[in-house]
Amino acid sequence: MPFIEVNNLVKDYKLNVRKKGLLGSIQSLLVPEYKMKRAVDNISFSINKGEMVGFIGPNGAGKSTTVKMLTGILVPTSGSISIDGLCPYKERKRNAMRLGVVFGQRTQLWWDLPVIDTFELLKYIYKIPDAKYKQNMELFNELLEINQFISQPVRQLSLGQRMRADIAAALLHDPEIIFFDEPTIGLDVIAKEKVREFIRYINKEKGTTMLFTTHDMQDIEKTCQRMIIIDQGLTIYDGTVEEIKEKYGTNRTLQVDFSENVEKINIPGIQVIEEKGSKKIFKFRKDEIQISSLINELTQRYSIVDLTVQEPEIEGIIREIYQGGIKFDESLCGVR
Ligand SMILES: Nc1ncnc2c1ncn2[C@@H]1O[C@H](COP(=O)(O)OP(=O)(O)OP(=O)(O)O)[C@@H](O)[C@H]1O
Ligand SMILES: [Mg+2]
Repeated sequence: MPFIEVNNLVKDYKLNVRKKGLLGSIQSLLVPEYKMKRAVDNISFSINKGEMVGFIGPNGAGKSTTVKMLTGILVPTSGSISIDGLCPYKERKRNAMRLGVVFGQRTQLWWDLPVIDTFELLKYIYKIPDAKYKQNMELFNELLEINQFISQPVRQLSLGQRMRADIAAALLHDPEIIFFDEPTIGLDVIAKEKVREFIRYINKEKGTTMLFTTHDMQDIEKTCQRMIIIDQGLTIYDGTVEEIKEKYGTNRTLQVDFSENVEKINIPGIQVIEEKGSKKIFKFRKDEIQISSLINELTQRYSIVDLTVQEPEIEGIIREIYQGGIKFDESLCGVR
């Protein structure tokens, strides 16, 4: 049985419809009108123990809403969630002891207190034994360098420091499951890499099951083997990162450095997308043109100094998916 099982999960939010003008405002106050907004629309997936899954989708897709239901903060409109047999919102306390959550957009630390005070409070709440607390604090300092700012109030921390403190706080009680909702948002390249390294380490060494939400595809490529893509509350992909590249990354680019200026290349199926002096960049579909025969043809016809084939970037593929440019096989998606 999977560790996390989500079946036909739906979440509707009740929205207050406000009428225009002063009269409208008074009317809305006296006779409020509501409409429903479906944020999560029949999502199903399962995650095995120790798995690390990227959970992605455009703004407003329903990722945070799903994470909130998984942690028990929100109650689903319908559908079911089971986390190692527990229903998160019914057994919120028991579930909370076993999981950690990081909401990158909002800190869970006490704003006016020094970081260390929050940690000590969490030690008390989660009844963390002294030895485990000490061991984890040492590990987090080694990997996230938290001692540099541990005595400062949270409000004085930089975003990167605050995020590191938030991540450490969520993991202090050694949760079996951790939900990361944008833990790298707003961080610089080095800080992002540090967070990714930390996540990889914890998953590998402690076998923690993880769901990782982000808008940075590098996060996914560098940490997760599997990803689930949702859009407008629906699952549109559930599979490996490699598979999506293989199946949907049909465009390849070829950069050619000719020994002299070449006016026009007459090879069907290739398109020049950039030209700079004797350098040209071509785009072609890998299912229409074989790279080896293209290179063969070019080298026979022209004198070439250098040649580079570029593999598709996951970011480009995801961008196309969000823009509706790629249609999926039903077999690759969750239940619709
Ligand atoms: N408390 C709320 N009340 C009403 N509607 C909400 C509420 N929270 C979210 N929504 C709506 O539900 C939809 C899904 O929001 P959600 O925050 O889950 O998206 P997301 O995928 O996390 O987006 P982002 O990438 O921007 O964080 C959006 O249309 C949003 O406006
Ligand atoms: Mg969100």
